Amino acid sequence: MLVDRRHLLAGTGAAALTAPFGRFAIAQGAPIKVGLLLPYSGTYAALGEAITRAAELYVKQAGGTLGGRAISFTRLDDESEPTKATDLTNKLVYGEKVDVLIGTVHSGVAMAMAKIAAEAGVPTLIPNAGADVITRAGCAPNVFRTSFGNGQVSYATGKAMIAAGIKEAVTLTWQYAAGEEDVAGFKEAFLEGGGKVLKEIYLPFPDVEFQSALAEIASLKPQAVFSFFAGGGAAKFIKDFAGAKLNEKIALWGPGFLTDGVEKAVGAAGNGVKTVLHYADDLDNPQNKAFRAAFEAAYKTSADVYAVQGWDTMAVLDIGLKAVKGDVSKRADLNAAMAKAAFDSPRGPFKLSASRNPVQNFYLRELKDGANRLVGVAVKDLADSTKGCRALT
Ligand code: PHB
Repeated sequence: MLVDRRHLLAGTGAAALTAPFGRFAIAQGAPIKVGLLLPYSGTYAALGEAITRAAELYVKQAGGTLGGRAISFTRLDDESEPTKATDLTNKLVYGEKVDVLIGTVHSGVAMAMAKIAAEAGVPTLIPNAGADVITRAGCAPNVFRTSFGNGQVSYATGKAMIAAGIKEAVTLTWQYAAGEEDVAGFKEAFLEGGGKVLKEIYLPFPDVEFQSALAEIASLKPQAVFSFFAGGGAAKFIKDFAGAKLNEKIALWGPGFLTDGVEKAVGAAGNGVKTVLHYADDLDNPQNKAFRAAFEAAYKTSADVYAVQGWDTMAVLDIGLKAVKGDVSKRADLNAAMAKAAFDSPRGPFKLSASRNPVQNFYLRELKDGANRLVGVAVKDLADSTKGCRALT
């Protein structure tokens, strides 16, 4: 675990300037404290890093201030470890007293975090974790998601698989909220379209011993495999799938997390993997081109979906902070402004549903020679269900 307060991007000067006007003015000039609860170690470490980099880049490009105030980031490594989530969230919310909370990647960690955030009322933005409950029955007026719902992305994937003529599939994923909800969303679309699921196979998170599952898949001989894996686990899975030569006979599909950020690592072993996601590297829009160029220039590495989500998280926060002129004590106004956020993202048009989850396009992509190629739009303007959300405002 690591607490890092070096990420003060600007503004001590602003505090000094306002000093003659008394304590209130000093408070107004002080940086806004943004807590980042993200994985910086473990299988999702690269995801947390990409989100952080894009968030920092956003503030830098804005000149170091949002809503007229400097932003200071406080990072905490959640290790994608749900048992540590409550303590770590409390540390940021009640210990560090952050003004805004951003987190996280892992659904299990996010569920514990969101519960505390809802109780504390701290404006909170989720830059990845798709746990359905957060924007369904467990929704809260101060909790926003700028990424996707697990059931949303996997529903779109199931739709695309049916459209591609897939009739039979085996599912293979990690057994935790994200994997389970991905299978549920996939099945909803796939069964609706007349598809048949031969078997659901689960591995404990973050297990990467795929051999016995691959042997079972080889004997079941499905037309396709639907898999949710991400980060380091996804890279190993794609390589093992090809190593067992299953890629010669069985189509490998999944939500785009399977191939985002690991394209180079898997190389030719990933050729032909088809995925559906709310982003594609080669989306032809000016925001995407500018974002990718800036990210590449800043970090000498390519942006991926996680970076886009980090960027859009700050775009939503920026809209809220502008509306309250940086006064984060006006939480109701800040939340109301963020709920109305609508803008052109690198992913395409971005807006939020009534339960504060993105309504967005989902794209079909195919991995080829180290790059996810955009094939087309799989589902346009897809909103996730707001089922059970009683805090609809
Ligand atoms: C999740 O736990 O919700 C999750 C993690 C990694 C991903 C996507 C979803 O890439």
